[in-house]
Formats: sequence, C-alpha cells, structure tokens
Amino acid sequence: MGWLFFLHFFLLSLMARAPCTDAWGKEGHYMVCKIAEQYLTKRASNAVLDLLPPAAEGELASVCSWADQVRFRYRWASPLHYANTPGVCNFKYSRDCHNSRDELDMCVVGAINNYTTQLLNYKDSSNGYNLTESIMFLAHFMGDVHQPLHVAFEADEGGNTIDVRWYRRKSNLHHVWDVNMIETAMRDFYERDVNVMIESIEKNITDGWSDEVSQWKACNGDSVTCADKYASESIKLACDYAYKDVDEGSTLEDDYFFSRLPVVEKRIAQGGVRLAALLNRIFSKKVGGNLKFVE
Ligand SMILES: *[C@@H]1O[C@H](CO)[C@@H](O)[C@H](O)[C@H]1NC(C)=O
Ligand SMILES: *[C@@H]1O[C@H](CO)[C@@H](O)[C@H](O)[C@H]1NC(C)=O
Ligand SMILES: *[C@@H]1O[C@H](CO)[C@@H](O)[C@H](O)[C@H]1NC(C)=O
Ligand SMILES: [Zn+2]
Repeated sequence: MGWLFFLHFFLLSLMARAPCTDAWGKEGHYMVCKIAEQYLTKRASNAVLDLLPPAAEGELASVCSWADQVRFRYRWASPLHYANTPGVCNFKYSRDCHNSRDELDMCVVGAINNYTTQLLNYKDSSNGYNLTESIMFLAHFMGDVHQPLHVAFEADEGGNTIDVRWYRRKSNLHHVWDVNMIETAMRDFYERDVNVMIESIEKNITDGWSDEVSQWKACNGDSVTCADKYASESIKLACDYAYKDVDEGSTLEDDYFFSRLPVVEKRIAQGGVRLAALLNRIFSKKVGGNLKFVE
C-alpha cells in the first residue's frame, strides 16, 4: 500500500481507460454478497463469520471488493477476474481458461474452483492456505463470473477497448456494464440508495423469479461449483445483449439502458443466490474429500 498504491491509482485515473478494469463496480459486488448473506445456512454463516477479517465486522458484503483493491499487490491474480474467448459466443475451459502466459486454470472459472477446494479443507489445520483470502476471493469471483463482459472477447478485452458514450459521458462498453448502468439505475429508480436496489432485486427473487431460482441453484453431476456453466451463460449474454448493436463510438442511452438493465439485475440476483448455494455446499456436513470438478 502506501503512496505507491495511490500513485498507481492517480496514474490510472489520468488515463482515458484503464487497461483492465475491475468487474461489477463496488456496488455490483456489494449487492451480490448482500443478497448471498440472506440465503446462507446457519452452518455456512458461522463458518463465514469465523473466516472474515476483523475489519469486515461480520459482514461478507463489506469485503467483496477486496480482490479489486489488491489487484496491484497481487498482480498474478489479475487474470482471475475474467475469461476470454477467441471471438466466439461459447466458453470452453480447456481453450479459454488460461492467463496470457498460457497457464491453465488461470481465469475466473479456475479461480472459483481453486478457492472452493481450499475452503473445503476448512478446519483442517494442515491447510497451508489463508482461508480469509480464499473466502474473499471466492465471493468476489462469483460476482465477476456473472458479469457478461467478464467472459467475453479477447480482441476487445471484454469491451474495454470499445469506446462509447453513456448518454453524454465518455465511457467504454465494459465500464457501462460494470458501473454505469447500475449508477444510472440507482439514480433514476432507487433513490441513489444501494439498499433500495437490493430490496427490489430480492423482491423479484421471492416473487417474479421464484420458479427459476431452484434451477439457478441446481448444480448436479460431479461439479461442485458449476462455474463453467455460469461462464457459458455470461458469454451468451455478452453476445445477445452487451455487444449487440454496439460499435466503436456508439452512444448508448434509453433504448440500450431499458433493454439491458433487466439482464444486469438478474445476473446480480443469480450471483447472490448461487454464491450462497455454493457456500452452503462447501460448509455442509456431507461434502468433503472426494469432490471433482467438471470442465
Ligand atoms: C489458487 O490459489 C492460490 C493461493 O491464493 C494461488 O497462488 C493460485 O494462483 C490460485 N490458482 C488459481 C487458478 O486460482
Ligand atoms: C490472511 O490474509 C489477510 C488478508 O490479506 C491478512 O490480513 C492476514 O494477515 C492473513 N493471515 C495470515 C495468518 O497470514
Ligand atoms: C423484476 O422483474 C420484472 C419482471 O421480470 C422486471 O421487469 C424488473 O426489471 C425486475 N426488477 C428488478 C429490480 O430486478
Ligand atoms: Zn473483479
């Protein structure tokens, strides 16, 4: 940390666009984790409380952006926030889950599996990992994998290199999905209050989407995390909604906002419900030992 961190931050803010940005901005991650907190079993909730750093004051949501805050300190973890495809609208683990040095597993899906495996050894004192970091990474990456442009095209860095206008402001497509749509929604519909937006999403989970929710949570077969499924959904949504009808220099306004915001809100809901379901499985009694991951 220290001044070097702030220098980095200052330089980045001077650049027209950051080379790689964080996922859902702070608000998006906060909402995913806040929703997840509602659906934890007592067992999982106790384990989470035990692992959180003191600064979290018992609230998972308060540390869900930690992984973005340490991006400069933990350079190796930077590729773990996303996955790239070679310009196609599907995700294949063996083809797409690697970093720029072609090291397999170094993408958001591999990271979710990795930190899940570490947390499955909770209470095993020979575990060499810092499980406080594991839980903070896992909660963050479960949010990231649901942001459609975090599983998107390599050539445009998940929309980062596509400059657009968000109404009258300069932005880029990636940033529109991380931050701009959520900010505009909060201002226009939710009294600028993230908790009002969360309440509204939660209402849909219990009412409008209640029929789908059990399918969101379902994760069968050998896979503990089903993260590859969430990545496949994201690239599909990236093609069908995020990239659709957008070119370099496009101005995105009401038409785009009103047709895409429901996607953003549903992905936040799914991220929250699934993060809770995953933590519930990890800390359940049954699970342990012989778990396998499907690619
Ligand atoms: C798994 O976690 C360890 C500890 O944080 C890290 O060193 C390693 O790079 C991670 N690998 C993946 C694929 O996330
Ligand atoms: C575990 O990680 C957290 C967050 O980086 C850090 O504050 C803490 O000191 C670490 N614990 C140990 C035992 O290294
Ligand atoms: C709730 O669901 C309705 C119907 O699907 C949708 O139009 C609306 O945007 C949703 N609101 C939120 C906050 O998710
Ligand atoms: Zn991220």
